[in-house]
Amino acid sequence: MKKINYSDDILHRSTQILCHKDITFEKIFVPYWEEHFSKHKLNKVLEIGCGLGYLSKILSSKLCFLYALDKASDVVSFAMEHNFSPNVKYINNDILTYDSEINFDGCFAHMSVHSIKDLDTLFANVYKLLRKDASFSFSIPHPCFYHLFRPKEMKEFSYLNVKEYDLDFNISLDQMHMHNKIKYYHRAISVYMEIAYKHKFRNISIDEIYPTEDIMKLYPEIWDYPKYIVFKLKK
Ligand SMILES: C[S@@+](CC[C@H](N)C(=O)[O-])C[C@H]1O[C@@H](n2cnc3c(N)ncnc32)[C@H](O)[C@@H]1O
Repeated sequence: MKKINYSDDILHRSTQILCHKDITFEKIFVPYWEEHFSKHKLNKVLEIGCGLGYLSKILSSKLCFLYALDKASDVVSFAMEHNFSPNVKYINNDILTYDSEINFDGCFAHMSVHSIKDLDTLFANVYKLLRKDASFSFSIPHPCFYHLFRPKEMKEFSYLNVKEYDLDFNISLDQMHMHNKIKYYHRAISVYMEIAYKHKFRNISIDEIYPTEDIMKLYPEIWDYPKYIVFKLKK
C-alpha cells in the first residue's frame, strides 16, 4: 500500500489523542457522546466533520452504522487508514452540498458547526437528510464564555455580534501551536435557536459542558465557566 505523508498538524493532533493529552476529548466528550448514543442503538447516523475519525471509531460500537463526513480530504484519508471500523463509512464531502438516498436516524457534529459559515444551508440540508423524529446534536464552544478562555485572541468580542475568528488550536496539556488556525464563528445562543426553529427543528435543549470535580483536577487551571455547549434538536 502506498504510504501517505500527512501534514504536521494531522500527526500532531493524532499524537495528542493517542498520548492522552486531550483531557476534554477523552474524559469529557467521549463519555458524553457514548452516553448520548447509549439509549437505543440507532440504525444509520451521520457525523459532520469527523476529522481524524477517533470519535467515529469509538462511537461505532454504539451505532449500527455511521456515515462519517468531512470536507477535508487529508483527514478523511487518515481516518480511513488509522480508524477503520467495519460499520463506519468515511466520506469526503461538504455537508452544505452532501446529498444521499438515506434517511438518517440521527446526526451529530462534534466541534465542527462553529467553523461553518453558512448555518442556514447547514440546517436546511441536515433537516432534509434526516427522517422524521430523528435527532441532530452538535457541540461547540460555549458562546457566552468561550471568549474568557481566549482573552488575547478574542479581545473585540461582543456577545450579540456574529464575528469570525481564526484561533490557535491548543489544549491545556499541549500549548505547542499547530500551523493552521481553526475557523471560529461566534454566534449568540439565540442565533442557533432561531435558525433551528426557522428550519422546523423542535424539542430544542442544551447541555452545558463542565467537568466533574475529579476531572477538573486533571487540568492545570480550573474552568470558571462551562467551556462548551451541546445543542440537541429533533426533526
Ligand atoms: C475542529 S475540527 C473537529 C474534528 C473532529 N470532530 C474532532 O473533534 O476531532 C472541524 C472539522 O470539521 C470539518 N468541516 C468544516 N466544515 C465542514 C463542512 N462544511 N462539511 C464537512 N466537514 C466540515 C473540518 O474539515 C474539520 O475536520
